[in-house]
Amino acid sequence: MPNKQVTSQVDKYEVKDHQSIELLKELHILTRDGKMNQDSRRKIKQVSHLIQFIEPIIHSVTAEKGQFHLIDFGAGKSYLGFMLYDLVTKLLKTPYKIIGIEVRQELVEYCRKLAKQLDFQQMEFYQLSAEQTHTATQIPSTIDIVTALHACNTATDDAISFALQKDVAHLILVPCCQAELASLLKKNKAASLKNNFFTALWKYPIHTREFGSHLTNVIRCLYLESKGYEVTVTELVGWEHSLKNELIIAHKSPHAGKMAKAHDQLKNILLEFNLITLAHRYEVYIE
Ligand SMILES: C[S@@+](CC[C@H](N)C(=O)[O-])C[C@H]1O[C@@H](n2cnc3c(N)ncnc32)[C@H](O)[C@@H]1O
Repeated sequence: MPNKQVTSQVDKYEVKDHQSIELLKELHILTRDGKMNQDSRRKIKQVSHLIQFIEPIIHSVTAEKGQFHLIDFGAGKSYLGFMLYDLVTKLLKTPYKIIGIEVRQELVEYCRKLAKQLDFQQMEFYQLSAEQTHTATQIPSTIDIVTALHACNTATDDAISFALQKDVAHLILVPCCQAELASLLKKNKAASLKNNFFTALWKYPIHTREFGSHLTNVIRCLYLESKGYEVTVTELVGWEHSLKNELIIAHKSPHAGKMAKAHDQLKNILLEFNLITLAHRYEVYIE
């Protein structure tokens, strides 16, 4: 039945007839009386934008393989997974799995309960860290798509290394706060000062934080390129909607020349910025 009772409030967000009003209320996108919750606008905008990128990938994987498996790292309340299921995948006739990985048990339980309530049978949730997922037996051996929307700190790196280990063809990442590299830059400042005029780039704490975050994503992109991915980086939504707004999309497309070049650039960056302790993570070996 068409969602007549909410059409007037949600027209501009294009709630489709097949969407579950129960889900939108559970996710607090709609209030109990069916009105658009103003506080949720930002989240809907982010998730809807991401889904526009994920949907064609799902269709192409499904056309090729007759099924797909997607893992969402740092799923939280799994807005992305639920919205994706409700908007796109529940219409599919093929088998698939959307798997949410989350460290907080109460969120995993919440998501399991909601999936059951909505009869979203092809969703699974596991209480695991992104790192533990590498060896978790519950996870299917073949994964086609990895997503991570604001997965905290190094969880994005763990999602990337999972994808590389499982030879995942598609990654959609929106990194979160990245404190690790900023703290390394700070720690190594004295050593860097001796050699580099560009330490002025992160002289002040706010610059250290922003530069650390920027450099982290540059390194991640080079790492993915060095492992044979074609990478694009854009804004997720307008800056007014989110400070953590970088969208990294990577598709497996090996090209030996590009891979070698990216690996060299990555190595040089790690050396120049005194980040050698991270080299191992990005499979850079420095004698
Ligand atoms: C900022 S929230 C984002 C949640 C969701 N992706 C979204 O955009 O609404 C980050 C989530 O990642 C989870 N998390 C943090 N570190 C993690 C890790 N190493 N592995 C898995 N989940 C993690 C947190 O518990 C939290 O629920």
